[in-house]
Amino acid sequence: MTEYLSELAQGLKPYVPGEQPSDRQYIKLNTNENPYGPSHQVKLAIEEEIGSLRLYPDPDCVALRDRVAAYYGVSRENVFVGNGSDEVLAFAFPAFFTSGTVLFPNITYSFYPVYSDLFKTKYMEIPLKEDFSIDPADYCGFGTAGEMPDDQADGMHEGRIRGILIPNPNAPTGKCLAPEAVEQIVKANRDKVVLIDEAYIDFGGVSAVGLTERYENLLVVMTLSKSRALAGLRVGFAIGGKKLIDGLNAVKNSFNSYTVDRLALAGAAAAIEDGRYFMQTRDMIIATRERVAAALCDIGFKVVPSQANFVFISHPTVRAQAIFEELRGMGILVRYFNKPLIDNYLRVTIGTDEEMDRFLSAVREIAALR
Ligand SMILES: Cc1ncc(COP(=O)(O)O)c(C=O)c1O
Repeated sequence: MTEYLSELAQGLKPYVPGEQPSDRQYIKLNTNENPYGPSHQVKLAIEEEIGSLRLYPDPDCVALRDRVAAYYGVSRENVFVGNGSDEVLAFAFPAFFTSGTVLFPNITYSFYPVYSDLFKTKYMEIPLKEDFSIDPADYCGFGTAGEMPDDQADGMHEGRIRGILIPNPNAPTGKCLAPEAVEQIVKANRDKVVLIDEAYIDFGGVSAVGLTERYENLLVVMTLSKSRALAGLRVGFAIGGKKLIDGLNAVKNSFNSYTVDRLALAGAAAAIEDGRYFMQTRDMIIATRERVAAALCDIGFKVVPSQANFVFISHPTVRAQAIFEELRGMGILVRYFNKPLIDNYLRVTIGTDEEMDRFLSAVREIAALR
């Protein structure tokens, strides 16, 4: 039989996102979406932009980059905008990591190994500590040349270490590194690109953006999908030194000039502008998270302390997969990862108070039956 697919395509194991089912109405706590929806200003800005849709968007995203730059106190040349932070992360691989090895935690965002395979980048997974925290020392001490230590240089992983990729807070654990720990890693790896994926930083962590001025090897990636409630619009951005931003632009402009459309540019700029709505909804999510975490502990769950818009939980007697399936039957979707080390955990997105009360009654019922 003729094989039409390239060897690369034949070998790919694509990322599987959390489901977006349409068979019935669910309480959706499975993809870390924001329950409150975008600011009214976003809706107005998008409506206004519809009249210009016959025109291509600005390929350099200048107006949005200026808005992001002003918000974070950096310059336009330090900002790159992409079609969701997934795209920014994807561009980072050919821009910085190919022909070497990238390090990331063994429990983390499952897109990282997928990008590594797509862009033929080797990777080495660094184990989390038993409490799911990241030890910054594990990412230091690779030497100035970034050579792989001899005992770890096997056929799969050998090669110069070109980069480090860490989500902060980490997903799916929700655990956060202190800014000093991030700086320790960035400082110890000045000859490698250190990419901090801050998709969830607004829910309790301290951003590393302030370090980008001092460390030209640091790239901070953020998204408007979570704290700005724009998952459906697909906008993410990176902040870093000009050299790194130029690298991302070189890749993007060799792939597609217009990755971010007019509606997305307009809506994202309005979302950044509406600081009041952002803070209000973020604070509501944090308050709900703390309330839900305490209630889950009362029911008997182990709850990993979270600085994100989700909690990572495990029950001492009822298996996570069973809880996941029972909740699904009751119309509540959470995320279950059938993977080593975390196959008895569930990741539960923080929804509205009403949604979380329904979730809590459901798990109370499930736990009481065992
Ligand atoms: C750690 C992390 N990084 C990046 C993303 C991608 O976000 P988006 O492409 O919606 O900006 C996600 C999405 O869930 C995530 O969990």
